[in-house]
This record gives sequence, C-alpha cells and structure tokens, in this order.
Amino acid sequence: MRQLKVYYEGDLVGTLLQQVGQYIPKFYYDSTWIEHGFPLSLSLPLIPEDLGEKAFNFFTNLLPEGDARTRIVGKLKIPNDDFSLLGAIGGECAGALVLCTDYMDPADGWYEQISESTFDQMVETNGLSITSIHSKNRLSLAGAQDKLPIYMDGDQYYLPQNGAASTHIIKFNVLAYKNVPAYETLMAMIASEAGITVAPISYHTHTNGAFALIERYDRELVSNYDVRRLHQEDFCQATGRSSGQKYPVKDDQTDNALGEIIAILREYSSNPLQDMMKVIRWQIFNVLSGNSDAHLKNISLLYAVDANKRVTVNLAPFYDLVCTHAIERISKELAIPVGKQDNPDNVHYSDWVAMADDCGVTQKIVINEVMRLANYLPQWTVESIENFEEKYGAYPALQRIERSINILCRRAIDAIELQTKR
Ligand SMILES: Nc1ncnc2c1ncn2[C@@H]1O[C@H](COP(=O)(O)OP(=O)(O)OP(=O)(O)O)[C@@H](O)[C@H]1O
Ligand SMILES: [Mg+2]
Repeated sequence: MRQLKVYYEGDLVGTLLQQVGQYIPKFYYDSTWIEHGFPLSLSLPLIPEDLGEKAFNFFTNLLPEGDARTRIVGKLKIPNDDFSLLGAIGGECAGALVLCTDYMDPADGWYEQISESTFDQMVETNGLSITSIHSKNRLSLAGAQDKLPIYMDGDQYYLPQNGAASTHIIKFNVLAYKNVPAYETLMAMIASEAGITVAPISYHTHTNGAFALIERYDRELVSNYDVRRLHQEDFCQATGRSSGQKYPVKDDQTDNALGEIIAILREYSSNPLQDMMKVIRWQIFNVLSGNSDAHLKNISLLYAVDANKRVTVNLAPFYDLVCTHAIERISKELAIPVGKQDNPDNVHYSDWVAMADDCGVTQKIVINEVMRLANYLPQWTVESIENFEEKYGAYPALQRIERSINILCRRAIDAIELQTKR
C-alpha cells in the first residue's frame, strides 16, 4: 500500500491511500482535522468516510497536463500515473496544500537563486529546460503550458526547493503558438480597463525569448523568505470534476457550466451578488475579446481562513486570459457556450438571453453589460496597446487582437440592435 499525507500550514489534513492494483486511492480526512479544520473543497464534505473518486479528482487537478506532464514523467522516470506524480511533485501546488510521502517533511523547503545562465537557458528553450527543475523541486501547477513557480526578492529570481512556497509564476513562450506571453499581458490590461480584477502580470523580453511574469494571488509574503499559502480551488475541483472534464460537454443539453458556477457562488460566496456579476462580466469579456479557452480550470475560488479555521470563500482574481481568436490554429469554439452557442462569431440576441436564464438573472443585466463592453472594448484595446508598447516596446502582432476585438464587438452590437429595433 502507498500513502500520501496532505498538509495545510503544517497540519495534517488527511491521507490518500492506494492499495496494490487499485488506481483510485481512498482519501480520509484526519480525525483532528475533522474537528478543527475546514472542507478542502465544496465537493469534499468534512466527513470520516472515504471520499473516493471526488477526492482523487480534487488532487489530480493540481497536476500539470498534456505535454508539460509527459515531459515531467519522462524526466522523473516514474510510472505515468497520478498518484506517483502527486508524490513526486506535489510539494508546491495551486493553493495551500502540500502533499508528502512518509519520507518527506512539509516544512523542509528552501530557496536557491537562479543563475543567469540557467535562466537564459530556460527562456531560450521556452521553458523546456525546466522539466528537470520541477522533478527535483516538487513544483506542480495545472495547465498545459510550461511554467515555473518562483520566489522573487526585488528583481532576483529564486527557485523554491523541495516544496518551498513561490510568489510568482513565469509563463514562457509557447512553441506551437506565437505571442502568447504578450497576448496574455495585453489581455489583462484590457480586462482591467473593463473592471475585471486580474492577477498582476508583466511582459519581459530576454536574450532569445520572452515570458510573462505573474503574481500569485494565493501567496502572501509574511517577511523575507516566509510566504503564507492561501487555499484555492478551481471550478473543476469545486464541482468534483476531473481535469479531463474542464471543457463542459457540448452535446449534453443539461450541462450548464456557467449556471453551475453561478449557483455555487449564490450558495457559498461571502459576496454572492458581486461574485455572480464578476462571472457574468468575465464570460461576456471572454466572448467579446476572443478568449475561447475560458474553461473550468481557468476560474477559481480563493479561501480566507481565520485563526479558528473558519472559512470565507470568494471568486479569485482572473488569470489566463488569452485572445485565442487572434492565434492561428487554435479552435475558436467557446469553452463555455453562451446559452447553447459555442461559436463566438455567431452569438445572437437569443443566446445572450439564454445565458441570462442560465445564470438566473434578468436579460437586461446581461444585455446592458454586453452593450457596455462591446461599445468600449475597442477603445480600451487601443489604449492598452499604447500602454503596452510604451512599457515594453513596439509589438505589431498586437494589432491582431485589436482586429479580433473590433470584429467580435461589432457583431455583438449588430446582433443586439437588430433585435431591439424590431
Ligand atoms: N496568478 C495566479 N495565482 C495563483 N494561482 C494561479 C495564478 N495563475 C494561474 N494559477 C493556477 O495555475 C494554474 C495554471 O495556470 P494557467 O491557467 O495560467 O496555465 P495554462 O497552462 O495557461 O493553462 P491552460 O491549460 O488553461 O492553457 C491555474 O489553473 C491556477 O490554478
Ligand atoms: Mg489555464
């Protein structure tokens, strides 16, 4: 039998137990945690029984996906199964939990400055050379892109070792798609103009490469080299889905992912109305700004835990906003449809109305917000490009985003005016 211990701020939360020949381990909360702790997820009630597949889904949602995962598994020479990978790299994840085998101590981490030559190599290889780093340093972040959690002291970058906490995430250029770090940075600037709270992000060029540097909203610097981890979960975790289910099922007429997010916020958020409105705005922004990859792992809940482990839950700042519409060879299909419409170039008035119904709000709320964003986004985009180029230098490919946003906003306005003039 193998086991992994789960810790929150050094306290034992529970244990994952895997019997020989069994893929899905059992998960039990520790009895002291049941008395004094909080549920790790909206999908994992604080009960003494085995939480089974839902708990395993929660933990496997912490792991890298796609090629990033394949490379780490290859480098580590471990079996390509979730339990082995969680044991190998689950020391520093999204949120506050630390996973340890019996031989590990959750408080054993330290920091090592990244040398210039190592950093040059990371940027030049678009992050490919970081694979060996993840394996030695127990760093795990979800997503398909190569990214590196780091600790920043002034402008110096440090590598968290053996599961020490990071403060920032570096996202490198993506081999298959051009301009992603610049696009993500610009989109965050445009989103801020639209009143959307995003994790602070900046764009950096380096010898032979570029990257985006993102502040972690789930970390608090207490003092030098003392970082507090804040608990978070994404909406795959909150709804008990596996990471493979981050895209809702399109041909299932009952799958209403946006409605599900809204219902969760209505029930659990400490600021339900504000958070519900934030999600509605996020979805409209995604459609009008051509961000088709806004799936259930690209939106999260942030937990505030007081000294008595009482919890308040709120929507986390938004992240991973990319205008996929402006990138060749990426599917334009919306991860979360508007009503049942997943083609961003074909969203009609009736689809926005269906979205309002899905969210349980009036049509007016949605239509007014669509019109507000569609009217202003083109101008905010021009201004944000100006600001971007002032800060980081000329970047002609940003015009592609401007074109996408102009087209999508024009269509949205035409679709709504067509209906309201009838
Ligand atoms: N600023 C942040 N602070 C804390 N956690 C973050 C932040 N940004 C991202 N994360 C966490 O890291 C995960 C991966 O980040 P991100 O979505 O940016 O990666 P990605 O590889 O682009 O993902 P995808 O597979 O959607 O393309 C997120 O799902 C979230 O849990
Ligand atoms: Mg993502």
